[in-house]
Amino acid sequence: MPRWPYPRIVAHRGGGKAAPENTLAAIRLGAELGFGGVEFDVMLSGDGVPVLIHDQKLERTTSGRGLVSAHSAAQLARLDAGAWKGRRWRGEPVPRLEQAAELCRALGLWANVEIKPANGFERRTGEAVARAARALWQGAPLAPVLSSFSPLALGAAREAAPELPRGLLLKRRIPPHWLEMTRDLECVALHCEGRLLTQALVRAMHDAGVAVLAWTVNDPRAASKLLRWGVDCLVTDAVKRIGADFAAAAPRRGFWRRLRPK
Ligand code: G3P
Ligand code: MG
Repeated sequence: MPRWPYPRIVAHRGGGKAAPENTLAAIRLGAELGFGGVEFDVMLSGDGVPVLIHDQKLERTTSGRGLVSAHSAAQLARLDAGAWKGRRWRGEPVPRLEQAAELCRALGLWANVEIKPANGFERRTGEAVARAARALWQGAPLAPVLSSFSPLALGAAREAAPELPRGLLLKRRIPPHWLEMTRDLECVALHCEGRLLTQALVRAMHDAGVAVLAWTVNDPRAASKLLRWGVDCLVTDAVKRIGADFAAAAPRRGFWRRLRPK
């Protein structure tokens, strides 16, 4: 099994900046643009149903108000999660993980499911998302990778569905004990903010048998550099500039640049 058997370029929140984040329309767009994989965020509704949404509060991306955790899945399904992005997206619901999984499987898309717990719901969310993912992706050719900033959520996911691969998300800094953290949670990958990575860190992570995912990389030059360093996966919002075939084209770009006369 290669270190990273999943797609190398992944659309962030379904369809990057080109669609309303964490909606079924975004996932469909990701597939239309040729991406082999999508990342999306999953939180629990008030009645414990995993749904796709980034913020703990509804205001930024939906027609609702207040906390996600104060609404049932049925109430969330009636909200508009597309209109904030433009008229053409009106009527997009807040999807349940079940709907997103079915769509990904139908479209042949791999999924990086980010467990995004509301404060105080870390273990409950990790457990519920892992249980749901196990059932929803049963028999799929590629299992989803469950990632989270929350070690508590990842620990609960490991207990609930140990066979599903996990990734530890890191932002602002890469702590010196990254290897210990990765091993404690039995993660296959570190999901690092791209700007924090160095070639030496990528090499050290690989030497330790850990795959490296970089997020959210929107500058093609930064993306090329990270790919040259051997980063296994890039998550991008810039789905038009850093398309699904970017990884195949990137080494050649570097090659030609080196050959160009000064
Ligand atoms: O999984 C990568 C990235 O999505 C993490 O940050 O805040 O966009 O969910 P955020
Ligand atoms: Mg995310």
